[in-house]
Amino acid sequence: MQDACGGAAPVDEESTTLEQRRGIAIDSPIQAYLETLHATYAKVCDGEVATYIPELAKADPEWFGISIATTDGHVYEVGDTRQRFTIQSISKPFTYGLAMEDRGRDAVLEKIGVEPTGDAFNSISLAPGTGCPLNPMINAGAIASASLVAGRSPEDKLERLLAVFSLYAGRALDIDMPVYESESLTGHRNRAIGHMLRNFDILTEHPDPTLDLYFRQCSISVDGCDLALMAATLANGGINPRTKERAVRTDLVPSILSVMTTCGMYDSAGEWVYWVGMPAKSGVAGGVLAVLPGQLGIGVFSPRLDAHGNSVRGVAVCKELSRTYSLHLMQASRAARAGIRARYTLASISSRRLRHERERKRLDVIGDRALVYELHGDVYFPAVEPLVRELVDTSAGVDLAVIDLKRATRVEDAAGRVFFELLQRFDAAGKHLMFVGLQRHAALRRFLEEQTSASGQRLRGFTDVDAALEWCEDALLRADGSTPASDTVVALADHDVCRGLSPAALAVLEPLLEPRTFSAGELIIRKGDPAAEMYLLMRGEVSVTADLSNGQLQRFSTLAPGMAFGELAVVNRGHRNADVRAMRAVECYALSTAALDRLGDTHPAIKITLLENLLRNVARMLGRANQELVTLASDGAPPLAPSAAVPFAKSA
Ligand code: DON
Repeated sequence: MQDACGGAAPVDEESTTLEQRRGIAIDSPIQAYLETLHATYAKVCDGEVATYIPELAKADPEWFGISIATTDGHVYEVGDTRQRFTIQSISKPFTYGLAMEDRGRDAVLEKIGVEPTGDAFNSISLAPGTGCPLNPMINAGAIASASLVAGRSPEDKLERLLAVFSLYAGRALDIDMPVYESESLTGHRNRAIGHMLRNFDILTEHPDPTLDLYFRQCSISVDGCDLALMAATLANGGINPRTKERAVRTDLVPSILSVMTTCGMYDSAGEWVYWVGMPAKSGVAGGVLAVLPGQLGIGVFSPRLDAHGNSVRGVAVCKELSRTYSLHLMQASRAARAGIRARYTLASISSRRLRHERERKRLDVIGDRALVYELHGDVYFPAVEPLVRELVDTSAGVDLAVIDLKRATRVEDAAGRVFFELLQRFDAAGKHLMFVGLQRHAALRRFLEEQTSASGQRLRGFTDVDAALEWCEDALLRADGSTPASDTVVALADHDVCRGLSPAALAVLEPLLEPRTFSAGELIIRKGDPAAEMYLLMRGEVSVTADLSNGQLQRFSTLAPGMAFGELAVVNRGHRNADVRAMRAVECYALSTAALDRLGDTHPAIKITLLENLLRNVARMLGRANQELVTLASDGAPPLAPSAAVPFAKSA
């Protein structure tokens, strides 16, 4: 049965245990969007297939494919992305880069300008006097670029050019000979341009070998996926994101992208920059390539061309992508990838709710079913894409995901839309996607509230990540069939501190314990008070907290029945370093330091056992805190300062 998003019908989470939910994966909202885009523009039948190169006229006008490659090598594809076609003018930026690499930027600038012409791609736009082509994206400039490719012979130059293009694509490219022959046979206008360039000594030899190289470069056979990877290679500073091989020097990339921005779409470059805002290049076989520096590359293929020789569907799809995902270069700030500050699971990081060893051990096993992302800076689509992809790829094994936006300075609308689409898919699969820090992002919260109430999904938001972690831990434990410890009542013999005590020893200890009860919200321990007793929690729940200078309450830990608090008194006999408050009705035993000292005199073995149990707990907490430090540090995120102190503060 299909639901509104076209995904699987919602799974009744109560009736589905963790086991039954295992293996349910969600589809990618980004892939789904591309499929919608393809379906929409496949209906657009404006434009004609190019015929001035006869072989090109054989193309099927309905061929249509969209590919997006990210700078870490992931490729999204929909439609005819593996349909081969000839690269045509999309070859020009790559040959321009090669010419600069072989001859040096200045030598190339002496021969080829960087000014847009506002004319068609095959216009004979040469600078008056010098005869220099105005830019390398028009045929004249491209032919000049081809003449600057190094090589002892035409074969040598071709081999070098093909090798470099193959580095961009990440696979060995070859030439579509029927198209090459067709163009070579009909390339009269280009020959005219070649001779004009020879006339002005832009070409220093007979133009034919250069024209032949140009016709061959235009006839290189590619597909939409190749274009996206070639674009992503430019976006990635000249290194192919999949093969990690370098195709061009990083310092030349800005020059290539600049002429693509100003001249790449010929006499519609202005329109293009205005509506799409990415460096791009089109080809008469129907390819369009666009680059978002530092983030991704786009390759669209559809042979139907507009009057400028640009793919109709290609231009429309890029406009839509740029609008939907805010890819326009002139956006306020583009802090790619800086978005993910930390990412971890509940197996490696825990909430400040202290868990009994049994629960802790279960969470170490099932905790990786909950993924947490802490985002920071400006959160744009490119920063969110890796998160979405990982959640989609791991969704069969993930039930809960937390997106912490507390350190995000801004969440761009497109990112918000993707979050909602992700939430829908999680919900439909009986899983939960939740947010932290929505209180700092009013527009996003309003958007998510409106969308979720309209679609009947539930928006789960938390003010801080600790509360979200605790909710997830409880949810995983509940789904795992275990009763949260906080709902239990513990007998003295089962208390952590009494572990290993015989009934006889318990009989000695019990009279020293003073029963206490506290109502919910009541302060049990006040920071600064003298520390003269510790407590054994038997029923209810307490939290160790401190007031922060900004008036907020910092939770150090929450304890459940069977745990002890205030035990630092036993060690330092000093003053309390945090408050302890009853979070619900509490029953506990107080053991004064005086009584403990007396016990030490009368029954030293019992006291030692008590102290050993306390030490074991502190050691377990310390071990856990160090493991969490390592997890956060290894993710490149600075360790949570001052976590080392937390274990002790956890107990006041
Ligand atoms: O030189 C030509 O005319 C073709 N090989 C390339 C032209 C082209 O791709 C123009 N782009 N839109």
